[in-house]
Amino acid sequence: MTDAQWWRSAVIYQIYPRSFADSNGDGIGDLPGITARLSAVRDLGADAVWLSPFMTSPQRDAGYDVADYTDVDPVFGTLDDAKALIARAHELGLRVIIDLVPNHTSDQHKWFQAALAAGPGSPERDWYMFREGKGENGALPPNNWESVFGGSAWTRVTNPDGTPGQWYLHLFDESQPDLNWQSPLVRAAFRDILRFWLDLGVDGFRVDVAHGLVKAEGLPDYTPPKSAGSMGGRPGAEDDEDEPELAPYWGQDGVHEIYREWHQVLAEYDGDRALCGEAWVEPLSRLALWVRPDEMQQTFNFTYLETHWQAETLREVIRDSIDAFAAVGAPSTWVLSNHDVVRHATRLAISFENQQGAGLGPRDLKRLPERHFALRRARAATALMLSLPGSAYLYQGEELGLPEIVDLPDEVRQDPTWFRTGGERYGRDGCRVPIPWEADAPAYGFNKTGASWLPQPELWAEYARDVQESDPASTLSMYRELIDLRAQYGLGANADIELLDGFGEDVIALRNGEVTVIANLGSWDLYLPDGRVLGASAPVGRNLPPDTTAWLITA
Ligand code: NOJ
Ligand code: CA
Repeated sequence: MTDAQWWRSAVIYQIYPRSFADSNGDGIGDLPGITARLSAVRDLGADAVWLSPFMTSPQRDAGYDVADYTDVDPVFGTLDDAKALIARAHELGLRVIIDLVPNHTSDQHKWFQAALAAGPGSPERDWYMFREGKGENGALPPNNWESVFGGSAWTRVTNPDGTPGQWYLHLFDESQPDLNWQSPLVRAAFRDILRFWLDLGVDGFRVDVAHGLVKAEGLPDYTPPKSAGSMGGRPGAEDDEDEPELAPYWGQDGVHEIYREWHQVLAEYDGDRALCGEAWVEPLSRLALWVRPDEMQQTFNFTYLETHWQAETLREVIRDSIDAFAAVGAPSTWVLSNHDVVRHATRLAISFENQQGAGLGPRDLKRLPERHFALRRARAATALMLSLPGSAYLYQGEELGLPEIVDLPDEVRQDPTWFRTGGERYGRDGCRVPIPWEADAPAYGFNKTGASWLPQPELWAEYARDVQESDPASTLSMYRELIDLRAQYGLGANADIELLDGFGEDVIALRNGEVTVIANLGSWDLYLPDGRVLGASAPVGRNLPPDTTAWLITA
């Protein structure tokens, strides 16, 4: 596997291990399950997989709370299972990106346990963000920061003698204490972790909360503007506006030094390994700093993910993304779904405000779009995304057109967001339901016992992979066809596109190399230009119906 800079144009398929395939029937997906089902990802035409965390973890945040970075959690298997998975992926021609969680550990990590035991002022405590409280007897948290999952971002510990002690920072759940990235020991430990997995043959890392590691000096109070998403970012922060004010815990300049160091670590290895940052940073020109030539190779384009299905803004975001990244010599990435957001087969058709991370649930049932209508739109959006130059990220199940599951009963919910907000925000369980493989098998083929850590809906039978395999009109067939055409016409590898005028306000029309792409975001049919249709998100004749995207070679 020597294709230089493969990541520039790759289609990367995200596997959420808990929900992909379960080999031992305990209801939770695992590594042997993934290995056994991996050929489906190759058949889709993807170039790489990204695996959400499978390291040792008490699973308080579905594995994003790591207690040992260099071992596999028994729920998912063993280190040998991880080796077998990597070997199988490489045999299939798939590269493997794993998830690295450097902003915080689990509170069960031995570093945190040592910090608790060693007490205030100790070198052990310096691995984390411990501070004295404010007010009488330090009874108040050190500042006003809020956790992304709701509630205060600080928790007070108890001293060994039972008296109340210091507070520690956790931008997420209280079981996820933030590390202190000013500590050279923390930095050295993570360089070793990178090498451990690189030695095992992984091709790269998706870096969790990559914009959170460095906090502003003095940890000043901060109240985010209403427009900010829970992970930061400022929808509406435009490139030509003044730089929006930075939260003291997101996107601080100091993070870049860390990724320059990591770039060097990856460069010690052959085969063009890659870092992809989860950085909710806006505007795009600021995000592009993350992928300067000596830093990360990729960063998720969440501005694109958060843009509504509206032609004018979407057109602008596409133009700005390509330009902002090109300015630093990097391709853009594109993404519509992942394990943290409402699946785009539902999201793009909802007409009410729904903050990232809030999820959907029974309270929203009445105002949801009809799912076939919403899927039609999602397919059009995917067909547009797959036509763009750069790398595209897919989230397991979107190739089946899976909708968000909104009727999960309260008692099965697992996302810490649900608990920390007292049920005010549903959180992300609705996009994490184990995926269907076979319409007529227990757990829809997820395993052989029928167990499932989140209940699967009856409608999964309609979406099962085996049903879609043989249907040329299925969403799965559309994904395969377009990914194949994308490779054939080199769409991902081109440096730029030409946005075409004259098609009307509700249309996005572009040329990428030989291919003309037309997306109809309006409410009535358009005439298609003369030419040969290569592929489309729905049947097209002479006309392009609403919520449809077509790829053509024009006459
Ligand atoms: C981002 C991950 O994608 C999300 O699932 C997780 O809860 C937070 N980071 C905290 O690690
Ligand atoms: Ca299992």
